[in-house]
Amino acid sequence: MDNNVINEVRRSVDIVDVISRYVPLVSRGKNYFGVCPFHDDHSPSMSVSKEKQIYTCFSCGASGNVFNFIEDYENVSFPEALKILADMAGISVSGISVSKSRDVNKSLYDIYDVSSKLYINNLNTNYGVKAKEYLHNRSINDDLIREFQIGLSLNEKDLLTRFLVKKGFSNKDMVDSGLIVKSDYGYSDIYYNRIMFPLYDVSGRIVGYSGRIFNGEDTSKYINTRETPIFKKGELLYNYHRAKESCRKKNVVIITEGFMDVIRCHSIGVTNVVAAMGTAFTKDHVMLIRKLARDVILLFDGDSAGAKATESCINLLLEYNITPRVVRLPEDLDPDEYILKYGKDKFISLLDNPINIMDFKLSYLKTNKDLSSSVDMSSYVGGVIDELKKIDDDILREITLKKVSEESNLSIDFLRDKLGDVEVPKVRPIKVVHNFTDRYDKAQMYLLYYMLNNDWVVSMYDENVVFMPNDSYRKLATYISCFYKEYGYVNVADVMTYLSSYEGMNKVVNDVLSLNLKDNCNKDEINDYIFVIKDYNIKNEISRLQVEIKSVTDNVRKIEIAQRIIDLKKMEQERSYD
Ligand code: CTP
Ligand code: MN
Repeated sequence: MDNNVINEVRRSVDIVDVISRYVPLVSRGKNYFGVCPFHDDHSPSMSVSKEKQIYTCFSCGASGNVFNFIEDYENVSFPEALKILADMAGISVSGISVSKSRDVNKSLYDIYDVSSKLYINNLNTNYGVKAKEYLHNRSINDDLIREFQIGLSLNEKDLLTRFLVKKGFSNKDMVDSGLIVKSDYGYSDIYYNRIMFPLYDVSGRIVGYSGRIFNGEDTSKYINTRETPIFKKGELLYNYHRAKESCRKKNVVIITEGFMDVIRCHSIGVTNVVAAMGTAFTKDHVMLIRKLARDVILLFDGDSAGAKATESCINLLLEYNITPRVVRLPEDLDPDEYILKYGKDKFISLLDNPINIMDFKLSYLKTNKDLSSSVDMSSYVGGVIDELKKIDDDILREITLKKVSEESNLSIDFLRDKLGDVEVPKVRPIKVVHNFTDRYDKAQMYLLYYMLNNDWVVSMYDENVVFMPNDSYRKLATYISCFYKEYGYVNVADVMTYLSSYEGMNKVVNDVLSLNLKDNCNKDEINDYIFVIKDYNIKNEISRLQVEIKSVTDNVRKIEIAQRIIDLKKMEQERSYD
């Protein structure tokens, strides 16, 4: 792919606009700031430079140009990121192949591919009649079965095993996939006689199953695939890949407990829904949710377990500055059951009227309490005060105080007093302090920092034959210099694209950029850095020659080397008088 086309695409979009589509940015001075989506963070530590067209995170050190951002945010390869951005810019880039690079877990993905075909096929044979009946009875029609790739494992303990062996998969890969188990009697399937709901990773590849019983006998309702190299339950949300577009369009993501709820919502056109796969919410889930939409609606089961799950999910989200809203369902129903019982319209009107978290918390705190008893009332009011300390929405706080004051007959002032001063999280970027190993380290990094942004610095580097002692820095300097020779300019954003084909260079650039220096520098400064590096070169050369001279037997050569050492030492001295 031609670098000129790539750079043209990059230049046609503004990184501030692009990142704003995903992360709210506020402008402060020359830069824009937002919460970094690439690590677990709460404060705006990511800065986006309109001028340089790059982003850097002071906290986790992530940095890059607009391509890197899309690659990391969307979990896509470079060609895919290029395509997304070209589409945004309205540029047609033909001939981009978006094939994924070879993955170390390729055979595991292949096993899931093959197994899914087998399970889907099973459901469509005579053996699948009962299972189909079960699904139809649950109002899962053939379209839904197809779309969600629902399948069936048969009542045979090694059907998949034999199938995979025939396809040439190794025993190790079969076991690693989590679908096959080795016992004293050989290899056998984990799943048999269950309806197979595939579970997907964020890019929509099948990486696990939830197998449901449908004709009695077995005790556990669902069997989920164990954790494998490609399936980490705490890091995945069911339906993420299908819901992505619609969440972003509506800027709302709905979260349910079960994947059946997701499928049911989908069937009535509510497509911005995801579910955690039978685990409690983790911070990785929050990171994913943050990528989907700003508004979050929690739509958990109507029973008390669902209320409890809602409560803990709210608290987790609050830690990440996300204030969700809540929909509670009556009669202990889950969303699936509610929709089947009351229909689409009633369900949508519930969704259109979510309650705020404080109203949810007030009723949650009232469960199993008799507010006519002063003991219960006291613990209720205490609970509300604690909850109010977690939120930083002052209007919501006042509204809630008023409600509780009416319920408890305590004055608002008294309650406000109890609440004390709420510490609102401060919005300020964190600055990293860089620890240089020595002055040479510092000189090299500073020089590189300015080389990335100023072509005249690259010229000075080239003219002065600076030899950077550190291998990685020297490589980076060479690449920057090559870029300059090839394109006749430098800017950090394009250099980054150029570097992405060189292993390990992105990390070095990240380190250098994390210095976050002022933008301008002058010739004297650059001369200083070059001077320091040359100083190192001279010292280094002297010690190299001192070693060499010992091993040389030829006297003429010895004298030559000695003379060279003297010259260098003189040079060193003269330099220190400057
Ligand atoms: N789950 C599980 N193992 C179980 C029960 C539940 O892994 N024995 C997980 C599943 O991922 C399920 C979610 O927890 O989607 C919610 O559980 P539950 O509410 O019991 O499932 P439903 O969605 O109601 O499933 P169904 O309607 O088929 O009973
Ligand atoms: Mn259910």
